[in-house]
Amino acid sequence: MNTLRIAPIGAAVRPTAAECGDGRAEGRHEAMQKPVYVLNGPNLNMLGLREPHIYGSETLDDVRIMVEAHALALGMTVNFRQSNIEGELVNWIQEARSGASAIVLNAGAYTHTSIAILDALNAAELPVVEVHLSNVYRRERFRHRSFVSPAALGVICGFGPTGYLMALDGLKAHFGAAKVSRAPAG
Ligand code: DQA
Repeated sequence: MNTLRIAPIGAAVRPTAAECGDGRAEGRHEAMQKPVYVLNGPNLNMLGLREPHIYGSETLDDVRIMVEAHALALGMTVNFRQSNIEGELVNWIQEARSGASAIVLNAGAYTHTSIAILDALNAAELPVVEVHLSNVYRRERFRHRSFVSPAALGVICGFGPTGYLMALDGLKAHFGAAKVSRAPAG
């Protein structure tokens, strides 16, 4: 049984060897030794207060706890952060190039405006999953354009905080598949 360990925002929660499961999974975990950076953009610190009919009643801290618990169950490590500042998000994405195995990104409104974030994601050369709590395609037209999507492995929107968990599931499957496809034939 997994025990939930809580860490402050920004701190990595590492699973113990036992939590990582059996030895057969070891190869897959090699690719994921580094944490997945879960990065949140502007106004996501206002979750719970902000337009709850769109974004729900959970706070960002609630989302972090869910994400860390799910990561632990998957044998993954996450580093969960939020910033309202575009340049800080760019700095974190640059840091991820060497410090992370993958990026889960809800860039908030910068999704629809930031070429700097797109450039940083392309330079990071990591699997990126774009997440939005709301279904941006049911909303205003300006939310239909994403500068993040061209750099993303996948995009998840409309499932609320569950989308972050789906992103981790997708990355887990992605790294598992990468391991299988590298196996020698015969
Ligand atoms: C959002 C959607 C964006 O259009 C918006 O600017 C946000 C949140 C979402 O999670 O649904 O801040 O990324």
